[in-house]
Amino acid sequence: MTATLPEEDLERHFEATIERDQRIEPRDWVPEGYRKTMIRQIAQHAHSEIIGMQPEGNWITRAPSLRRKAILLAKVQDEAGHGLYLYSAAATLGADRADLTDKLINGKQKYSSIFNYPTLTFADVGVIGWLVDGAAICNQVPLCRSSYGPYARAMIRICKEESFHQRQGFELLMTMMRGTEKQREMVQEAVNRWWWPSLMMFGPPDADSPNTAQSMAWKVKRHTNDELRQRFVDMSIPQAEALGVTFPDPDLKWNAERGHYDFGAVDWDEFKNVLKGNGPCNAQRVAHRRRAQEDGAWVREAASAHAAKKGS
Ligand SMILES: [Fe+2]
Ligand SMILES: [Fe+2]
Repeated sequence: MTATLPEEDLERHFEATIERDQRIEPRDWVPEGYRKTMIRQIAQHAHSEIIGMQPEGNWITRAPSLRRKAILLAKVQDEAGHGLYLYSAAATLGADRADLTDKLINGKQKYSSIFNYPTLTFADVGVIGWLVDGAAICNQVPLCRSSYGPYARAMIRICKEESFHQRQGFELLMTMMRGTEKQREMVQEAVNRWWWPSLMMFGPPDADSPNTAQSMAWKVKRHTNDELRQRFVDMSIPQAEALGVTFPDPDLKWNAERGHYDFGAVDWDEFKNVLKGNGPCNAQRVAHRRRAQEDGAWVREAASAHAAKKGS
């Protein structure tokens, strides 16, 4: 039993497992810092999936056709599933699901700042699929190799579904771009609103990201924020050209020397302000989640009562 080994042996075993690029599993001893970091990262990710259902859920009843409604319903349902896999992964580290939800609705744990922006037209559904799910894929593909086994395995499944999300968004936009002038304007206007917040999804610049070094050493993070942001910019430009839209950044241009696109400065004050709770929809998102939690109380109570009855 590993639990009876002295702490320094356990620590050595943990470090060696990471060193060999093997997975840490729920049965393994982990340093407290690793446990806390993983719970924070997984919870924040789970909350983002659940809160992320709201901006798009806003359009389910107003989808322009049965086909679009079916696609959007499936997509939003997938996000609920992602939240569930991730809360389960957090539970394997000893986190309590109800406690995580409390922390979300009391503002003690965060979710991705992107979901605090409103969805003003149906083109936003397409742009979220293309850019927001696209940025999520850039962030999440390397997490399939995260050192924490349950998280890495959840990410493999999530990434497969995210790739469907990205494609449905791109296909929706392509259809709109083949439509009327008004539809093309809607797409461009939505791209203008979502481009910069999408770049913020990779987190603060490396110089301002104090947790990055430790997370890279623990292999819970495989690339820095700036590396992933650059990858996303490079990947998105040919896609924008294929669609026939532009990004709202006059500094965007190919840099042959670097072999990458240069891009303008992200407004980090806006990012910090949204994270602090002052984005356009923060209060609405959390209030909606709180209401859903309260409305569902009787279901949880009934399920527990039923389980207790069956167990006795
Ligand atoms: Fe997702
Ligand atoms: Fe998604």
